[in-house]
Amino acid sequence: MSRGRFITFEGIDGSGKSTQARLLAEALAAEGRAVHLTREPGGSPGAELIRRLLVEGAPDRWSPETEILLFTAARRDHLEVTIEPALEAGKTVVSDRFADSTRVYQGAARGELRALVDRLHEMMIGCEPDLTIVIDMDPELALARGLARRSGEDRFEDMGAAFQHRLRDGFRALAGNHPDRCRLVDGNRAEAEVAAEVRRLAMGLPG
Ligand code: TMP
Repeated sequence: MSRGRFITFEGIDGSGKSTQARLLAEALAAEGRAVHLTREPGGSPGAELIRRLLVEGAPDRWSPETEILLFTAARRDHLEVTIEPALEAGKTVVSDRFADSTRVYQGAARGELRALVDRLHEMMIGCEPDLTIVIDMDPELALARGLARRSGEDRFEDMGAAFQHRLRDGFRALAGNHPDRCRLVDGNRAEAEVAAEVRRLAMGLPG
């Protein structure tokens, strides 16, 4: 059996990437592909426990270093328990966020920690998606959408508009630096229009 494809969605809070990840998973399943939809932080029972430590509570609850370790621990468990077995079984894995979120969020919060993020990734994760869809979105609009939901998971949204602007710049730069696997998609459009473009990009993936 051939190994499955690994597709990730990235973007700022409220960019619509979770909806787009779900729509793509549904479209692929409707085509008869075996698909596993998952998310980060989380995606396995252990990583979901770590998620609660990360997304709830005061913005300054963790030092940046501790936060990077927690995200990496959650990712390692997600990879071992969920992603790798699904890819081995030939499934397409669609993940709402993965390592690029740590590069951009933790890098945006404290730029000098990017080297630590990269070293931990190399040591503990060591793989990249086949395709990364970066949903680009106006931060003011996205922030209003994200906070409007008031999910109780607003720790990063609570870091404010300037932080969201840095994140957007970070995701755009990341997409530009990895043209092999990243595609920047304009999220300031109707949901169905964005979904159609995402489908086209995913269908173009070999395998
Ligand atoms: P979500 O809202 O997309 O579920 O993600 C939860 C929050 O965690 C979101 O504000 C982004 C943040 N995050 C990071 O800061 N670093 C990471 O590595 C990941 C996966 C998420």
